Amino acid sequence: MSNTDKTFPVITIDGPAGSGKGTISQRVAEELGWHILDSGALYRLVAFAALERKIALETSDAEARLYELAKNLDVIFTPNEEQGIDILLEGKDVTEAIRSEQCGNTASRVAAFQSVRQALLERQRQFLKAPGLVADGRDMGTVVFPEAQLKIFLTASAEIRGERRLNQLKERGISANLRGLIRDIEERDARDMQRKDAPLVPADDAIIIDTSELSIDEVVNRVLEAYQKR
Ligand code: DC
Repeated sequence: MSNTDKTFPVITIDGPAGSGKGTISQRVAEELGWHILDSGALYRLVAFAALERKIALETSDAEARLYELAKNLDVIFTPNEEQGIDILLEGKDVTEAIRSEQCGNTASRVAAFQSVRQALLERQRQFLKAPGLVADGRDMGTVVFPEAQLKIFLTASAEIRGERRLNQLKERGISANLRGLIRDIEERDARDMQRKDAPLVPADDAIIIDTSELSIDEVVNRVLEAYQKR
């Protein structure tokens, strides 16, 4: 029996980089008192570990080494006092370190390896616990939780997503160039949408919300209303 056969409800929130998935998922999970899965963090952790070990992704043994890393990822997610989640990799706090642009871009490359995705599949399903789960990612509604009660797909223009990323980085005291961020986002979109295994696409039964002109509260309310109406 897979975890999705259990009766706990799941809301999947998929979409491209910078579409607001992280913030919206966190808010929806808070409102409902549910657990949260930030699946991108798992791919970022594999990327972080690969960067630390200087694994060159284009070499012939890269996939086997990445698979081993993904399979044996020694990670602990702990809720912190600011309603966020601290992430410990091999006992080291990497919460901030995995948010770098380099880690995000490497995560997108690592995520294109089928065996890496396979290695992370069951680990993601184990996040499903009572009373329910909000799952944030690229393939939550299509592959990881295909029987979810509600599937949301968030979009926004690359320009808006680039501006959001710039503001997030500014808040953390990191300067960046808007054009460069938009270019990275477009490259990441293309790679995530074109990969063979679990590409970034809305599930057939997903509700698509363009967040370009909407506030966070408006998007959260739409998701909660859709869940009540389903
Ligand atoms: O959501 P994020 O920016 O933290 O994700 C980083 C990368 O990880 C993203 O570009 C593609 C990959 N990813 C994925 O392939 N599948 C997921 N469910 C989540 C993330």
